[in-house]
Formats: sequence, structure tokens, C-alpha cells
Amino acid sequence: MATVSVVGVGYLGAVHAASMASIGHTVVGIDVDERRLAQLSAARAPFFEPGLPELLEQTQDGARLSFTADPSAVASATVHFVCVGTPQSADGLHADLTYVRAAVESILPHIGPGHLVVGKSTVPVGTAAELAASVRATGAELAWNPEFLREGKAVQDTLRPDRLVYGVPDGAAGERATQQLDEVYRTVLDRGTPRLVADYPTAELVKTAANSFLATKISFINAMAELCESAGGDVTVLADAIGIDDRIGRKFLNAGLGFGGGCLPKDIRAFIARADDLGAGDAVSFLKEIDAINLRRRDRMVELALDVCDGDITGVRVTVLGAAFKPDSDDTRDSPALAVAAALHAQGAVVTVTDPEGVANARLREPALTYEEDLTAALTGADMVLLLTEWAQYRRLDPTEVRELVAQPRLLDGRNVLDPAEWRAAGWTYRALGRP
Ligand code: UGA
Repeated sequence: MATVSVVGVGYLGAVHAASMASIGHTVVGIDVDERRLAQLSAARAPFFEPGLPELLEQTQDGARLSFTADPSAVASATVHFVCVGTPQSADGLHADLTYVRAAVESILPHIGPGHLVVGKSTVPVGTAAELAASVRATGAELAWNPEFLREGKAVQDTLRPDRLVYGVPDGAAGERATQQLDEVYRTVLDRGTPRLVADYPTAELVKTAANSFLATKISFINAMAELCESAGGDVTVLADAIGIDDRIGRKFLNAGLGFGGGCLPKDIRAFIARADDLGAGDAVSFLKEIDAINLRRRDRMVELALDVCDGDITGVRVTVLGAAFKPDSDDTRDSPALAVAAALHAQGAVVTVTDPEGVANARLREPALTYEEDLTAALTGADMVLLLTEWAQYRRLDPTEVRELVAQPRLLDGRNVLDPAEWRAAGWTYRALGRP
């Protein structure tokens, strides 16, 4: 078994560290955030991720997993995973590589021949080649091994991924890097996981291309929703019908409020910016439209709410179900639900937001909104209910029971997850995106 380090223990790194420990490696996690380190050291997950608390508990018992702020601790390991964030730059579309560069630099004094630095962060194509020189100067080698995990399913996606992709240098150095990665991922590979070995740019592009494709699929169906709204069709039936064709596939064809989170939006923007730098902007200029379609859905949701109130939402008590960017996550980064809640508040509505896990993060992001952890309390007295993140408990709501709580039975389904006939039969005004 190997000793590995994980630099950056946020959504990606914490899950990676715990997962690597669970398959028998000794793991040290490094971060600059002392609060996060204290939580992880006490086997507490610093964010909501199903399965992570159990994994932390199980691995810390055996002392296989430790956390520290001291980068020199990586010296005990030979494989070093870089898992820090690459957010959108404050001043444009590019990815901000500050954290990736700082993470690599922080470990350089503590690595040497025989060590392998493995980038997992999502980076613009060309980043690995740029970082390789400083890593090689220590005698160590660099590989890029993009991560495809989804929040909410991160543990399963790490231990049972669809595929492993290694970006490695040419020749003997690449063979050694491949061998080292194979050793670390032995348990995962033994489960039959496909493994593809490529050069750096291909590995970097695989990740960007995958997220761009997923974003495109979602915006495609949302564009069809726009057409259904104009022509009077039902996008959910349309999605079922085209999705049956297995060349198309039904997954990621759920029309609604669109995509958000810390990945898809910033990744397509960074891809547009990077392609422009490379003189290949035309190749991905369609992604600008993908982004625009996605953001239009939020505007359309606000329009729909205004429409239901005959154009004036001032003083209307609106309850927003969902603050996280998707269910089974407490992540509110670029959350479509929160964006709509804030826009309605700006229009004068009295907005109360509830979410099973995301309230604390949402409050930091949108402090002007009112939050209510308890679902029943949040629904009581509402003039309008907007379902904007499709948590299981919201999908299961009983229209007759909820009607008893609200002041006015008006429901806007931003994720097309409720049965319109059932809600209408219970006396509700039901409106949705892309559906009559
Ligand atoms: C995404 C990718 O799915 C992962 O493979 C990737 O590793 C990750 O980004 C990353 O780059 O780190 P994630 O952001 O966790 O994962 O969330 P997704 O499950 O992809 O959902 C993204 C957004 O699309 C959510 O806001 C979701 O509500 C929305 N969505 C998804 C739809 O609007 N419709 C759909 O049919 C599917």
C-alpha cells in the first residue's frame, strides 16, 4: 500500500483523501483552512456529502488518515494529489489558477526523485505542461488525472468511477507515472474500471469536454423548453421521447432551472476563454449560447412568478424550496434556486428560503433573504411556493396537506418533478418551465 498526500481538502480533496484511505493507503491531507482541518481531524465532514462521514469514521479509526496545515508533511508520501479549486477569475471568464500554482509550489521543497505529483483539479489545457518544469526540477514527475465526481455521489464516483484518465509525459517517465498511479488505484482498477492513458493536453481536455457536453445537453433540453413554452408543448414528454433513443439517452435531459454549482458554469466559461487564447475560439463559441440559455431559465422563472401575480409581486410571501445548486448537496455556489430567490426579493417579494442542508451556506451568500430550516414553518402562510431544487422530500410533498398550510395554493415547479394533474386536482395553480 502507498503513502499519499492530498493537497486541498475541499469537496474534491476530502472525499479523495478518505476514499484513498478506505482502500488501504496511508493518507495525509493538507489545507490552509484550519477550521476545515479541525473538523476533518475529528472525523467530521466539513460539508454535506452522503457517505463521507462514514468513510471518515472508518478510516480515522485505523489512523490511516491525518490532516495538517504543514506542507512538509507531504515528505512522508510519494504520490501527491493536487485537489484545490480553480474558480472563475474575479475579472473575467478564465479559471483562476492561483490555488493550483500555490499548492504545487508549497510541496516542491518536500518532494524529490521517485515522487509523483498528480493534478486532479480542473484546469485549462496547457496548465500541466506549464507546471511540469518546476516539478521535474526536484527530480519528481507530474501526471494529470482529472476527476469526474459529482457532488452528492462523490464517494461512489471516487471508488467506482466510470473511468480513470491519466495524462502523463512521453517515454519512460510516463510509464513510471502510469505504474505509480496503477498501484494507487489497484482496488479501483480491479473492479473493472476502464483506464485511459493520454498526454497532458488530452487529459486536461477530456475533463473540460465532458463538462461542456453535460452543460450542452442540459441547455439543449432547456432550449426545447423555451420552444415548448412558445408553441404549447410539454418538454418532459419530449425529453422522454427523444431520450428513449439510446444514441441520445434520457440522462441529463431534465429541463428546468438549469445548471449551477462550482463546476459546469465556470468550466464552460474557462473553456471559452482558453480556446480564445489558443486562437480556437470559434470551435467552442457555441458554449456562449449554452451559458446564455442556462441563465435565461432563471429570468423565465422570475417572469413566471410575476405572471402568476399579475405583474406585481410586491409584498407577496414567496416560499422557495431549495437553496443548494442541486439535491443531496449543501453547495450554494452559483445556485439557480438562490439566484431566483434573490431576484424575487429584489422585485419586492417577501421571500423565505428553505433547504434541508444548504441554509447555512445560502445565508452567507445571500444574507438579505429570510431562511427557515423547518419545511412546515416555511410553507405556512405562503402566497406562492417555488420548488427550485428537487430534494426528495419536496418531490414527495402531498398537495392536499400542503394546501392546508399555505395562504394561496400557487405552485411553480422549477424542476418539473411534480405531477401537474395531481396538484391541479388538489386545487393548486400549477405552473412550470416548458410545460403547459
Ligand atoms: C459536474 C459533473 O457532472 C461531474 O462529472 C464533474 O466531476 C463535476 O461537475 C466537476 O467538474 O467537479 P456537479 O457539479 O456535482 O458535477 O453536478 P451535476 O450532477 O453535473 O449537476 C450540475 C447541474 O446541472 C445542477 O445544477 C443540476 O441541477 C443541473 N442539471 C443536471 C439539470 O438542470 N438537468 C439535468 O438533467 C441534470
